[in-house]
Amino acid sequence: MGHVAGHPDVVVVGGGVIGLVTAWRTALRGLRVTVLDPAPGGGAALVAAGMLAAVSELQYGEQELFRLNLASAERYPSFLAELGEVTGDDCGYRACGTLFVALDADDRAQLRELHAFQGSLGLDATWLNGRECRRLEPMLAPGVHGGLRVDGDHQVDPRRLVAALLTACERAGVVLRRATAARVEVAGGRATGVTTDDGDTLSAGQVVLAAGSGSGRLAGLPAGVLPPVRPVKGQVLRLRVPGPLAPFLSRTVRAVVRGGSVYLVPRVNGELVVGATSEELGEDTTVTAGGVYELLRDAHELVPGITELPLVETRAGLRPGSPDNAPLLGPTALPGLLLATGHHRNGILLTPVTGDVMAHVLTTGEVPEQAAPFSPGRFLPEPGPSPAAARGVPGAQPLESHPPQGVAP
Ligand code: GLY
Repeated sequence: MGHVAGHPDVVVVGGGVIGLVTAWRTALRGLRVTVLDPAPGGGAALVAAGMLAAVSELQYGEQELFRLNLASAERYPSFLAELGEVTGDDCGYRACGTLFVALDADDRAQLRELHAFQGSLGLDATWLNGRECRRLEPMLAPGVHGGLRVDGDHQVDPRRLVAALLTACERAGVVLRRATAARVEVAGGRATGVTTDDGDTLSAGQVVLAAGSGSGRLAGLPAGVLPPVRPVKGQVLRLRVPGPLAPFLSRTVRAVVRGGSVYLVPRVNGELVVGATSEELGEDTTVTAGGVYELLRDAHELVPGITELPLVETRAGLRPGSPDNAPLLGPTALPGLLLATGHHRNGILLTPVTGDVMAHVLTTGEVPEQAAPFSPGRFLPEPGPSPAAARGVPGAQPLESHPPQGVAP
């Protein structure tokens, strides 16, 4: 892939974890990369809890996504070792495991179902009764009736991760352009660059849209190319555990309470992250009394002692939700435009594998096998006959036809 003097090979729209990891891994493979973001190193990572919970968050019907999640979880230690060589930071990775508990009979039945499903896939999760759960985590409420011990679901600190990726990008020569993308430029049937809201156009051979929950809003793209990504609000609290963590909680504890999910993620620095609501309210990032109340109420049912802890932060972020909860990775129907978005609940978990997949596609034009199920093309409407074609007009094209999946040169 030849360099055009003055132009980057790749412009990445969005400087959150996904945009930065794409930029870093691609720059390491020799391409010139610019990241476009008014505040790189921000985004949903500043709110996320950082659970690497491939097994605990397993859902029926999402086996393909599970395989990608698991591959990324397995990739984490070597990925962080490489990042640590550049930045000197381990990003708060803790191989602490997770305990997923049930508070009442319905929760327990649901958890038993999950356990059976995990077993059918050969996954490692152990059923514990209530007393065994409390032996592991003595602060758990007496009402905990049982739970699943998942020793392979760990955690990382997303704030440290995104800061480390920013440093790694800078060291790898990635240019950070602090501006907002206004539109994608299209000429000759392909994406040719991005224009910023201050009127500059950055031309590039390939454009990656990695703007999280805002990825569905960019102007300039033809119908069928704009990703079907919507914001899914999550409110998260941060408490502080004074003194050593271990007597309080030693691992991530989560539960389904009244159908909603609550989790408590204890960090080595004493922070205890409590999350998260899931709300379909568009761009709204207001922290509400109701959201804080629900999180504290559910967390208190699990671990009554949390009410003694200082509440140090409340915040809301936006997950980039896709129609099937899985990311959109790789080339689009518009040659030169690629997507790395729609990671929904799994952005932090999928960071390593997304970086590798996107760098591979950008440098070789080929989609690795593990990413094939996550092609943006899966949301294109089925081609149907145009009225002319339906009438049998020779040479008439289907109305909804799209160019073949464009693999950038
Ligand atoms: N993965 C946790 C969440 O999105 O709340």
